[in-house]
Amino acid sequence: MSFRLIILGPPGVGKGTQANIIKDTYNIPHLSTGEILRNEIEIKSDIGMIAKNYIDDGLLVPDNILLKIIENNISGANSSNGYILDGFPRTLQQVKDLNDLINKLDHTIDIVVSLTADEDELTKRLIKRSEESGRSDDTADIISKRQKVYWKQTAPIISSYKKTGILKEVNGLGTIQEISKRIIGAIK
Ligand code: AP5
Ligand code: MG
Repeated sequence: MSFRLIILGPPGVGKGTQANIIKDTYNIPHLSTGEILRNEIEIKSDIGMIAKNYIDDGLLVPDNILLKIIENNISGANSSNGYILDGFPRTLQQVKDLNDLINKLDHTIDIVVSLTADEDELTKRLIKRSEESGRSDDTADIISKRQKVYWKQTAPIISSYKKTGILKEVNGLGTIQEISKRIIGAIK
C-alpha cells in the first residue's frame, strides 16, 4: 500500500524532525525541498546558484524551479511506495502545480499535517539551531523574515487544504516524541 503525506508549518515547527521519524515508521522517502535546494547550492548547480540568492535572503525560490524538483523526485522508483513532502507546497501556485502533477501520475495525497507553534517558541528553536547548523538562513534577521514570508505566502494554503477534508492540524509544542505520537494518531 502506498502512503503520501504533506507536512507543513512555519520555519522551526519541526517539519524535518518529524518527517525523519515518520519516514521510518512508514518506510517511505522524506523529500525536503529545503534540503534538496541546500544540496544543489553545495554542488554549485545552476538551480543551486539561482536558489542561493533567495534562500540567503529568506525569500521563496520561484515556483517553476520547485515544480521541476518535485517532478524529478516523486515520479521515480524510490517514491513508488509513497513519500513525505516537507516544505512543499508553499504557495497557492505550488498547490495547483502539485495537483496537476499527481493527477498526471495517478497519485493521491492521503493526508496534510499542519504543525502549529507560537512564534516565540519557533524563534527560540531556530536561534538555538543557528549555533551549530551552519545554515545561511539561520540568522536573527532572516529567521524573523522567514516567519513573515510563511504567514504571507504559505499560510493561505492551509485553508485551501481544509476544503479538501484531508487536513489535520497537530499541536507542534511538546517533546519530539509527544508530537510524533500525535501525528501518527492523526494518520490512523
Ligand atoms: P526549509 O529548509 O524548508 O526551511 P523552513 O521551512 O524555514 O523550516 P526549517 O527547516 O527551518 O524548520 P523545520 O520546520 O523543518 O523544523 P526542524 O525540524 O528543523 O526551507 C528553507 C528555504 O528554502 C526557504 O526559506 C526557501 O527559500 C527555500 N524553499 C524550500 N522549499 C521551498 C518551496 N517549496 N518553495 C520556495 N522556496 C522553498 O526543527 C527546528 C529546530 O527545532 C531543530 O534544531 C530541531 O532539533 C528543534 N526541534 C524540533 N522539534 C522540537 C521540539 N518538539 N522541541 C524542541 N526543539 C525542537
Ligand atoms: Mg526543515
